[in-house]
Amino acid sequence: MSQDQWSAVDRYFTDQLLPNDPVLDEALRASAAAGLPAIQVSPAQGKLLEVLVRIHGARTILELGTLGGYSTIWLARGLPAGGRLVSLEAEPKHAEVARANLARAGLAQAVEVRLGRAIETLPRLAAEGRGPFDLIFIDADKAGYPDYFTWALKLARRGSVIIADNVVRHGAVTDAASSDPGVQGVRRMLELAAAEPRVSATAIQTVGSKGYDGFLIAAVIA
Ligand code: SAH
Ligand code: DHB
Ligand code: MG
Repeated sequence: MSQDQWSAVDRYFTDQLLPNDPVLDEALRASAAAGLPAIQVSPAQGKLLEVLVRIHGARTILELGTLGGYSTIWLARGLPAGGRLVSLEAEPKHAEVARANLARAGLAQAVEVRLGRAIETLPRLAAEGRGPFDLIFIDADKAGYPDYFTWALKLARRGSVIIADNVVRHGAVTDAASSDPGVQGVRRMLELAAAEPRVSATAIQTVGSKGYDGFLIAAVIA
């Protein structure tokens, strides 16, 4: 199995199941033109996020790590009328590009991009009485994942869903001695999830145009 094969199959699925999408194409073009790194979820993964929002019937979503708003657009598209999404982003340029992309997607009303480090914005959201959120997508800096998972639980209710991106990192996650703070962050989050009686969680490996990676998916059960 090779990256070429994974990419070819992803292309085939995307051609079959994801119709041409000028809004998303333009979001990626604008993100690249502004110099943002192309580390957004793949099209098929983005559609998975939309499908999960729909399956869950989520009306409120919290995202950590907006980048150019690509995953944000997918998530928000799964919301019903009147649904709301808050997305947290530390880089001013990323937030600015994302806001423009969301406006072009007709999602300016539904989505609020909050500028600031997530670890500072999360307690502010809680203090404002925001939440509980029906679905929380964790995709900011991987070293912060343990804190973000803990905050996600605080901002969740029984029945909420927590999803975290990039939990495999080409297999690096199994290296307990890794010096990569991102790997250690993911590993510590998995330990927290395993020890947390409020969640029922699994992790799923994925391959595709973005290589070999995976998602944590957790249901908040209490
Ligand atoms: N969810 C996006 C990709 C996010 S990439 C998508 O799939 O389309 C990770 C993002 O997290 C980057 O934009 C980065 O600037 C942001 N980030 C990094 N550290 C952060 C922090 N401490 N708080 C908030 N955002 C952060
Ligand atoms: C990378 C990929 C991601 O999905 C992400 O959220 C952050 C970084 C990467 O490939 O470096
Ligand atoms: Mg990611």
